[in-house]
Amino acid sequence: MEKEIVVSGIRPTGNLHLGNYYGAVRSFLSMQEEYNCYFFIADWHSLTTRPKPEDIQKSVRTILVEYLACGIDPEKATIYVQSDVKEVLELYLFLNMNAYLGELERTTTFKEKARKQPDNVNAGLLTYPTLMAADILMHRAVKVPVGKDQEQNMEMARKFARRFNSMYGVDFFPEPESFSMSSKALKVPGLDGTGKMGKSDGNCIYIKDTPEEIKKKVMKAVTDSGPVAPNSEKPEVIQNLFTMLEIVSAKDTYDYFNEKWNDCSIRYGDLKKQLAADIAAAMAPIRERIEFYSKDVDLLDRIAKTGAEKARESAAATLREVRGILGFRK
Ligand code: ADP
Ligand code: TRP
Repeated sequence: MEKEIVVSGIRPTGNLHLGNYYGAVRSFLSMQEEYNCYFFIADWHSLTTRPKPEDIQKSVRTILVEYLACGIDPEKATIYVQSDVKEVLELYLFLNMNAYLGELERTTTFKEKARKQPDNVNAGLLTYPTLMAADILMHRAVKVPVGKDQEQNMEMARKFARRFNSMYGVDFFPEPESFSMSSKALKVPGLDGTGKMGKSDGNCIYIKDTPEEIKKKVMKAVTDSGPVAPNSEKPEVIQNLFTMLEIVSAKDTYDYFNEKWNDCSIRYGDLKKQLAADIAAAMAPIRERIEFYSKDVDLLDRIAKTGAEKARESAAATLREVRGILGFRK
């Protein structure tokens, strides 16, 4: 039986942080064992926020190195750079012809971005969901590992697939579903008490951080003055620390500190030290591989080239069909 197709991408806008790793990349790792996976670097998507031209190649390479260092295996999954596969632009154009202004304007991500950069509310921002749908539908993917924040974009991708099928009376695009490893989508919290860990929130622990940097960031995490009564509910900032322990540390460690919380003998300093050490230990092999891959530019180029070829083959096959369906020469 043919393996089911999986697609996901991340915009190259800095280093990967623990949110990206535990929220998205870790599911890439398990999926590459079972599915026909396409993992890409969404460099065209990053244009919506006007990166400097001199930063583009560097940022793309950073994500490529970090994908590999995390364990995405080019022998198992196709790793490519979005802009190497021009076919996506043609599908983007076709999809845009049947995407309506009203629905694009109503997307939360669009409204949020428009609020954040009021002097640059560009058409690329408006049509971000159609480009994302093109990324996915181009490979006729059925599963897309992404965090909860991408759910609305995923709904749009499904809507565009359905609309295409019904407008042209075909059963061509499958409706892609979001995929999360855990039953509920995992949210890695920030340690500054502001909800999630995210680049724009400036509260990230990066997978490339040294043990010293990790320790410094974790020790600075916001806490309170301690539990007031046994077995009390944890306030958000404390819950965030426990959530991190749950994600990164052994179950025993979590249980140990949870008991300490419950009997009011907890010392946040000890918890933070342990958490920092556990994060550093989990990231140590990744950090080593980051060093290894960043030195081997030839290898990176080869991986990106092979990935682009494989992705183009899959994309070209879809596009030939789509052109035919729309009445164009194949
Ligand atoms: P950022 O929020 O730092 O800009 P991106 O939007 O580039 O990160 O996200 C890339 C991927 O990582 C997406 O699939 C997203 O859902 C996931 N992700 C980002 N931050 C977190 C987080 N704190 N917890 C879980 N998943 C996350
Ligand atoms: N929008 C995604 C993000 O911000 C990145 C992305 C672009 C993507 N195209 C995609 C994710 C296709 C999954 C599938 O994280």
